[in-house]
Amino acid sequence: MANFILRLAEPKDVSDILRLIKELAKFEEMEEKVMLTEKDLLEDGFGDHPFYHCLVAEVQKEQSTDDKKRSLTKTHHQGYNVIGFAMYYFTYDPWIGKLLYLEDFFVMQEFRGLGIGSRVMKMLSETAVKTRCSSMHFIVAENNKDSIEFYKRRGAADLSSEEGWRLFKIDKEWLLKISAK
Ligand code: ACO
Repeated sequence: MANFILRLAEPKDVSDILRLIKELAKFEEMEEKVMLTEKDLLEDGFGDHPFYHCLVAEVQKEQSTDDKKRSLTKTHHQGYNVIGFAMYYFTYDPWIGKLLYLEDFFVMQEFRGLGIGSRVMKMLSETAVKTRCSSMHFIVAENNKDSIEFYKRRGAADLSSEEGWRLFKIDKEWLLKISAK
């Protein structure tokens, strides 16, 4: 078991959160789509009305130092204490009420398979239960088979294949058109 702590993100974490958002986007082969800045993350998550919440997984200094000694080749990941995050917020479903929406979930590759993701899921589940959410929702890329299996082993149902729901968006260009009418 890795020596790590899970905690709620603080304003000082925004640069690490953005770094991990970009790593996840890269993993999903969509790195160029990340437009967000540290300033956005700071304003949107830590102002009077937070639009998101975030858990961060932090390895203790000794461990990152040990890792540094162990594998000097994995240099680009070294020197970071924050090695994973889960971004979530609350939404509302008119049939069942409060929902916890998991937006992004990522653990750096060399720290995967150590139980960190499972602990994040436990903490998110505790938060959902405490806040009386009926369900946790999220989307997963179809080709992300490992992650799909990870969620399925934890009771996830696939709404696209089992219930036929399709995911839509209306971009800003269209929102402007519609709002200008
Ligand atoms: N890498 C990944 N999984 C491994 C590895 C490994 N090297 N070795 C073993 N596993 C198995 C574990 O045995 C475990 O199996 P279980 O489900 O039977 O318990 C599972 O895979 C991983 O469990 P944890 O160690 O608790 O979770 P981890 O810390 O690896 O985090 C996560 C899981 C977040 C999915 C991580 O693998 C990851 O970051 N993947 C890449 C990014 C990703 O796909 N994120 C989710 C996108 S979907 C969304 O954001 C809503």
